[in-house]
Amino acid sequence: MKLGVIGCGKMATALVKGAVSHGVVRAIDVIGVARTEASRLRFTEQTGARNTAAMAEVVKESEVLLLATKPHDLPKIIELAELRKFPDKLFISVAAGVTLETMEKLTGGLGRFVRTMPNTPSLVGKGAAAFSLGSKCAEGDRDIVQSILGSVGMSVEVPERLIDAVTGLSGSGPAYIYLVIEAMAVGGVQAGLPRADALKLAAQTVAGAAAMVLETGLHPAVLKDMVTSPGGTTIAGLAALEDGAIRSSFIAAISAAVARAKELGKN
Ligand SMILES: NC(=O)c1ccc[n+]([C@@H]2O[C@H](COP(=O)([O-])OP(=O)(O)OC[C@H]3O[C@@H](n4cnc5c(N)ncnc54)[C@H](OP(=O)(O)O)[C@@H]3O)[C@@H](O)[C@H]2O)c1
Repeated sequence: MKLGVIGCGKMATALVKGAVSHGVVRAIDVIGVARTEASRLRFTEQTGARNTAAMAEVVKESEVLLLATKPHDLPKIIELAELRKFPDKLFISVAAGVTLETMEKLTGGLGRFVRTMPNTPSLVGKGAAAFSLGSKCAEGDRDIVQSILGSVGMSVEVPERLIDAVTGLSGSGPAYIYLVIEAMAVGGVQAGLPRADALKLAAQTVAGAAAMVLETGLHPAVLKDMVTSPGGTTIAGLAALEDGAIRSSFIAAISAAVARAKELGKN
């Protein structure tokens, strides 16, 4: 696969690094363009891929194009790169809030677009992403997107109307969990643990619990009951969390983020 990258920033670098290290694409088959030379050089240094200042070159020599500029730059990039002239190529956008309809319209309805919503843990190979295929996508396009997103974590396919829900859950979710980790560490410090140890123990506990859910396939409620002995320490802690309405707080947090994503999408 020949992969072109428009916008060589943090997300594009993470995706290309993942795709190259998992053998999804060879570094030599990737070429990226960014506005500044510094960004282009950083991209090449971190991924081994080639770079150029000429967007037309990237578009011309690629079969798949990763569109990874900031959302407000994307519409003008689609026009600048004359993507409407290339209905044979697949365009994968990571830009938050830019709809398939907007992108397709800019190519006169001809472009093969995929809209994705990755999250920041992609930068360390632990991403949780969702994607939606556009109306012009072909049979093999799903596999291409899954292989790229899968190289930096996992992905699920959703209808586009659910992308805002994904934004509120896994897009914004890392920040909710940072708060949880921070709060757990504070609890540990209050109980006398050194701050650095408390933080490491809290973060690894979150990572370990997540791995238990993903690797055993057991429902979190079952896993919770397995470690909650009657009259023990864990039930005492859980009861305190229920007092603080932890479940409804998380549900409300995700609803609020989804509502905000919808609001921003309208602009
Ligand atoms: N970072 C995340 O965790 C995350 C998560 C989910 C979705 N996203 C999405 O990913 C996209 C990129 O985010 P990011 O954090 O990777 O941003 P970033 O680091 O700022 O990267 C944006 C890149 O676009 C380039 N660019 C801007 N205008 C250009 C132009 N006219 N021609 C060529 N290149 C151009 C910039 O080049 P210069 O550096 O040279 O200006 C830069 O390399 C966004 O749309 C965002 O919504 C990111």
